[in-house]
Amino acid sequence: MRGKNILIGVTGGIAAYKVVEVASRLKKSGANVKVMMTRHATEFVSPRTFHEITGNAVSVEMFGDAANFNVAHIALANFADLILIAPATANFLAKMAHGIADDLLTTTILAFDKEILIAPAMNTKMYENPATQANLEILKARGVKILEPASGNLACGTVGKGRLPEPKEICAEVEKFFADKILSGKKLLVTAGGTVEAIDPVRYIGNRSSGRMGYEIARSAGKAGAQVVLISGKSEVEPPSGLEEFIKIESAIKMREEVLKHFDSVDAVVMSAAVADYRIKNPAAQKIKKSAETLTLELVKNPDILKELGGLKENQILVGFAAETQNILEYANKKLVEKNLDFIVANDVTIEGAGFGVPTNIATIIWRNGDIETFDKMSKAALAEKIVERVADLLNKDKKFFPLTVNH
Ligand code: CTP
Repeated sequence: MRGKNILIGVTGGIAAYKVVEVASRLKKSGANVKVMMTRHATEFVSPRTFHEITGNAVSVEMFGDAANFNVAHIALANFADLILIAPATANFLAKMAHGIADDLLTTTILAFDKEILIAPAMNTKMYENPATQANLEILKARGVKILEPASGNLACGTVGKGRLPEPKEICAEVEKFFADKILSGKKLLVTAGGTVEAIDPVRYIGNRSSGRMGYEIARSAGKAGAQVVLISGKSEVEPPSGLEEFIKIESAIKMREEVLKHFDSVDAVVMSAAVADYRIKNPAAQKIKKSAETLTLELVKNPDILKELGGLKENQILVGFAAETQNILEYANKKLVEKNLDFIVANDVTIEGAGFGVPTNIATIIWRNGDIETFDKMSKAALAEKIVERVADLLNKDKKFFPLTVNH
């Protein structure tokens, strides 16, 4: 941990006393540790304690020293490689989830664009309150890592979930952030969302893709240390932070153009976009007016982007998706072979909890050598991690040249 800069934010909960040990352990492991406290936190532990432990001044007030005002929140945000908030109160989670910046700690967080690790601790009912849970979901979706509270005796005299994990566990999580990342030095191209094929300036042909799966893959690859280019069609979700490039497109033709532009410079492509197979042959330049009882639109085939990449592929890893409604394995296998992929992620979109518009997926991975991996229902974020781990395995262990022997 030598040379790592860690900023600990302490908010007003009784568990603040345990964070003294967290600061002490991190300091002993060689990290530079600074502490920020909310005013309420100082009711539980004195700033002097953290000062003595870390050897650094403790920041509490936004406008503490008018004579030496140096925009403390920006200086602190610039200092840190990682911010750890422990304990995080329900009030703090609510403020952070909604971008409120009314003290030094919340303002610093808004000015910080790197890793944030949060350890909530509070009464069980407060933790389980839908407001708190909704705030945690918002933060998770933004890529903030939340440490699950432990269960046990709480300071308020009740027993349940809400205890701050032990200092040793919190420090282990912090160390994980700085461990070598499985995709360090690698560049990934991820496509996501659905393409939009114009009928006229007002209407289009689209599909039910929400973009969630691809955005989670991009997020997970970024966390694993990769530079990530995300090319996205229509999507319902916010792109993750920290992308190398985020390119928004509409049509399959435009997606192909952008994908081909980047293909030579990437180590792997994960093609999770729902690309329309057909587009309107002659989109109308003006809005089509209603007249005849029937209207016929002529469609022409779009290029198959992934198949084209399969033909161009040199060392790149290629991952495809197959959203099917029947004969899942057979159809997915066919795509794996025809598109020259390293593996394909297949799912039956007719099953509840899999496919479009939901936060979960039920997937099967089919490998080039015929191996099949099946996964239980899991969040798209968790499946994204599995996919990213497998891409990293292929890239790091150089397994990528094994022969194509799919024979199902
Ligand atoms: N794909 C692509 N370009 C297309 C169509 C699909 O790159 N024009 C990619 C998708 O991003 C996905 C994989 O190919 O990774 C399989 O897509 P899917 O729509 O399931 O299969 P298709 O090949 O289009 O076959 P079909 O629609 O007949 O099932």
